[in-house]
Amino acid sequence: MAYKLGKILISRDKIHERVTEVAKQIANDFDNDQPLVFVGILTGAAFFLTDLVREMPENMNVQVDFMSVASYGDSDKSSGVVRIYHDLKSSIENKNVIVVEDIVDTGLTLSHLKKLLLDRHPASLKICALLDKQARRKTDIKPDYCCFSIPDEFVVGYGLDYASKWRHLKDIKSVVDE
Ligand code: IMP
Repeated sequence: MAYKLGKILISRDKIHERVTEVAKQIANDFDNDQPLVFVGILTGAAFFLTDLVREMPENMNVQVDFMSVASYGDSDKSSGVVRIYHDLKSSIENKNVIVVEDIVDTGLTLSHLKKLLLDRHPASLKICALLDKQARRKTDIKPDYCCFSIPDEFVVGYGLDYASKWRHLKDIKSVVDE
């Protein structure tokens, strides 16, 4: 089946406004002198992460790292494994970590990844998601910071893709049957 772009679900202005608010919320929750490591999950979250960290105060000790992962195994259980395609460059031991994800859908990827990262003994580990699609959740994972809750529809833009297309859109749009 072929798909085409549908209507704007979240406009670029709304995204900017909300990313700024969430950055302020994060900045308020952490001390300026402790390193705060933002871990972006490639590829989708890279767009969101770069906007988010640029809203953090200048005097904060902000660090940025990326991971590329795929979750495997039983799609109905949270006991699967995460295959790491690209790992972090630096240790997160004793550091405050914020995992930045584009969208939490079933929650399986993040719940596997959270376990894996907690084994590396960070001082704290929080999850920040651009979008939360709660209707499809299969685990009890809940983002600590979230920009928008969305209904159960497939969306693209601002980092999110469909078959590697439409990541570059400034607005978040739905995808519809052609
Ligand atoms: P989860 O393990 O089901 O939570 O998978 C989350 C991943 O599925 C995200 O990082 C996205 O890559 C992908 N995904 C889920 N819903 C959408 C969507 O509406 N648009 C684009 N990608 C999505």
